[in-house]
Amino acid sequence: MTNTTAKISIGNEAWDLPIKSGTIGPDVIDISKLYGNSKMFTFDPGFTSTAACESKITYIDGDEGVLLYRGYPIEQLALQGDFLETCYLLLYGELPTPAEKQNFDTLVTRHTMVHEQMSRFFSGFRRDAHPMAVCVASVGALAAFYHDSLDITDPHHRLVSSIRLIAKLPTIVAMAYKYTIGQPFVYPKNDLDYTSNFLRMCFSVPCEDYKTDPVLTRALDRIFILHADHEQNASTSTVRLAGSSGANPFACIAAGIACLWGPAHGGANEAALAMLQEIGTPERIPEFVRRAKDKNDPFRLMGFGHRVYKNYDPRAKIMQQTTHEVLKVLGVQDDPLLQVAIELERIALHDEYFIEKKLYPNIDFYSGITLKALGFPTSMFTALFALARTVGWIAQWKEMIEDPSQKIGRPRQLYTGAARRDYVSLDKRG
Ligand code: SDX
Repeated sequence: MTNTTAKISIGNEAWDLPIKSGTIGPDVIDISKLYGNSKMFTFDPGFTSTAACESKITYIDGDEGVLLYRGYPIEQLALQGDFLETCYLLLYGELPTPAEKQNFDTLVTRHTMVHEQMSRFFSGFRRDAHPMAVCVASVGALAAFYHDSLDITDPHHRLVSSIRLIAKLPTIVAMAYKYTIGQPFVYPKNDLDYTSNFLRMCFSVPCEDYKTDPVLTRALDRIFILHADHEQNASTSTVRLAGSSGANPFACIAAGIACLWGPAHGGANEAALAMLQEIGTPERIPEFVRRAKDKNDPFRLMGFGHRVYKNYDPRAKIMQQTTHEVLKVLGVQDDPLLQVAIELERIALHDEYFIEKKLYPNIDFYSGITLKALGFPTSMFTALFALARTVGWIAQWKEMIEDPSQKIGRPRQLYTGAARRDYVSLDKRG
């Protein structure tokens, strides 16, 4: 794909750096030989201008508000397909045939149980542990239960581990929820689809039958599709870096869950709902918008802004539509939180600060309202994000491991600490 070069000159030396083009999107300047030639590093904290890898999985155009999974627009996948179809697409690169879809659904369904000892593992946690703490620990602990699929050089091991993670995350997330509310764990049922199974594991109790609402199940399944993958975001980059050392997939996904937990990333859905609750009424919105614009105030509008999207996050639009559908089915269209969110969005989108900085609602702005209406406590929101993002992390991890040019990731630095100096013995210090 290399077609032209970029010239960099430092002093009286100059070098030609290859420019590579992708299918769509920005070209890249290949700087892999720059240090060898110039003895200089590039400097890009936060990777605002750095492509860390080549990938065929997800494409984002932040200026146009475009998101494609393997070339298919998120709007079409979310409104026409189901989550396991998206999982197949992200993993294998093509939409499944009916037979492939049925085989994949069956394969995932038959891996939804966890080792029975996992329930003993859970009993070590405090009941008030945050579900994300439980998920980080439990997913990492899967490596202690599934020794038969840890050889990342074996394609079959990679497949087995991938299916196990996609299949068992709903069971683990549901167990994390049940554990915090003191209710018994619910086993998965193989005659239910993926998302119905998850809802039943979360909300059914042994004392009575549980029936899922098809509209609410469809809404949650769509939410999973929206969260499935998102190019080289912080948690995906964490998974790739962990995987580049040869760490097993369970450890890599646990690292991704840990990174996702941060309020600047996946933790924003929990923080956004807490913010809407703190605002409380539309009358208080101006006070919070002023704070968000105040450089001396660390407060930010949670669910607003994005490193890549400088236009409306396409997922937020579908999320908003799903929120209205769910609240209508549940008969709570006048949820005061939704009124605050709609008014906050209206005010922010007309404010010159947000316009100038191109701050729009992101996927986390509306998701919390929907998840709360579905019956999940705020503390579960990021765990649901992790459940859905597991397939994206696994697809990206698999792509990296199968890349013949793959090597351990090892960034360098600009060192501004002390130059070499000699040790001073304790009796000679001031
Ligand atoms: C996710 O990367 C992904 O793809 C992530 C994700 C995925 O699917 O994996 O999309 C999921 O993490 C979505 C983002 C969820 N986070 C939040 O909603 C938290 C609130 N948003 C911000 O923290 C922030 O917008 C980030 C972290 C999302 C993006 O930060 P950047 O790219 O580092 O941008 P920045 O902090 O440099 O902001 C640019 C300017 C700054 O002002 P100046 O320094 O230029 O004067 O915009 C301001 C910021 O102060 N700004 C905000 C703001 N977000 C940015 N001001 C007020 N409220 C905000 N929310």
